[in-house]
Amino acid sequence: MTRDARAWFMYVVRCADGTLYTGIATDVMRRVKAHNAGRGARYTQARRPVTLVAVWRFGSPGAHVQALKAEQRFKSLPRTRKQAIIAVGSDWGSGARIAGEEWSSMNKEADTQYPIHDLLKRRWSPRAFADKSIAQETLLSLLEAARWAPSARNAQPWAFIVGLAGTETHQKLCGCLTGDNPLWACDAPVLVLAVARLEHRPGRENRYALHDTGMAVLSMVIQAMAFDIYAHQMGGFDKEKARAVFQIPEDCAPVTVIALGYLGDPDDLPAGNLHERERQKRTRKPLSEFVFGEAWGAIWPPAGEQGGES
Ligand SMILES: Cc1cc2nc3c(=O)[nH]c(=O)nc-3n(C[C@H](O)[C@H](O)[C@H](O)COP(=O)(O)O)c2cc1C
Repeated sequence: MTRDARAWFMYVVRCADGTLYTGIATDVMRRVKAHNAGRGARYTQARRPVTLVAVWRFGSPGAHVQALKAEQRFKSLPRTRKQAIIAVGSDWGSGARIAGEEWSSMNKEADTQYPIHDLLKRRWSPRAFADKSIAQETLLSLLEAARWAPSARNAQPWAFIVGLAGTETHQKLCGCLTGDNPLWACDAPVLVLAVARLEHRPGRENRYALHDTGMAVLSMVIQAMAFDIYAHQMGGFDKEKARAVFQIPEDCAPVTVIALGYLGDPDDLPAGNLHERERQKRTRKPLSEFVFGEAWGAIWPPAGEQGGES
C-alpha cells in the first residue's frame, strides 16, 4: 500500500515539562510509545514521559500530504491557540478529531488490573504483518524457547513444522487454513504448525500433551515479543488435511497454526471487517470471574481482603 493510500494521523503530546509536541504517524500509539522510549524525536527525548492529548485522522487520498500540511500549520500557531483547539475538540484542516475512547482502541496493550511483565502486556494477536522476513537465527531462538518449556514427565510432546514465506511448506500451511484465516495469515512471513504427540509410547496416553504443547507455544510467543515479533495462533485450519499433507503420524495431533511476523499496518489488510477487528479493543474477564478461594465460585481474595500488605 502506498503512503497516501492509508490513513495518517496528526497528534499532539504534552511533554513532562508542560510543552506541546506535534507530529504525524500512521500508528499513533506506537509513536507515543517510541517517544516514551526515547526513540521518538530529539525534542521529546529530554522531556519524557509524554502524554497524548489530541489526535486528528486524515483519510486517503493524499492523507500523508494533508497531515503534513496540517502539522506545519498547527506548529506555527501560538501556544494559547493550540491549547484552545485541543480543548474545544474541533477538526483541524481536513483532519477529523478523534475522541479519547477511539485512540484507546488503537492501543492494543493489555489494560491490566495488576502490573504484569511488559512482554505479556504488549503481546496481542495481530492480523497485519509487515513485509519483513524473520532472520533464521531469530526463528531458531523462538523454537529454542519452546524447547525449554516445562512438560509432564519432561515428555516434551511438541513438534513444529516451519514454513517461511515463499516456500512450499508455507504454501501448504496456507492451504490448510480455513474461514477468514487465509485472507491475512498467508501474508505472514512465517507459518508454524504446532503438533502434539499424544502418547508416551504406543497405547500409553499422555494426558498433558495438548497442555504442554500449548505451553511450548506460549514460550515461543513470549520470546517472539522480546524481538518485537508478534504471533497469531489459529485453530481454524483443516487438521486432517494438515495430517495428510505433512504425513503426520496417527498418534500425533495438529494443534494450531501460528502466524509470526513484525507488526504491519492494519490498513494493508484486505477489505472487509478485518480493519475494524484489528483495531478492536482487547478485553478480558475480571479476575473475580475465574479466581476462586474457599470453593468453586467463591471469589479469592474475599471482598475486604483485597489490596495486599497491611
Ligand atoms: C488455540 C487458539 C486458536 C485460535 N484460533 C484463531 C483462528 O482460527 N483465527 C483467528 O483469527 N484467531 C484465532 N485465535 C486468536 C484468538 O482469537 C485471540 O488470541 C483472542 O481473541 C485474544 O486476543 P489476543 O491474543 O490479541 O489477546 C486463536 C487463539 C488460540 C490460542
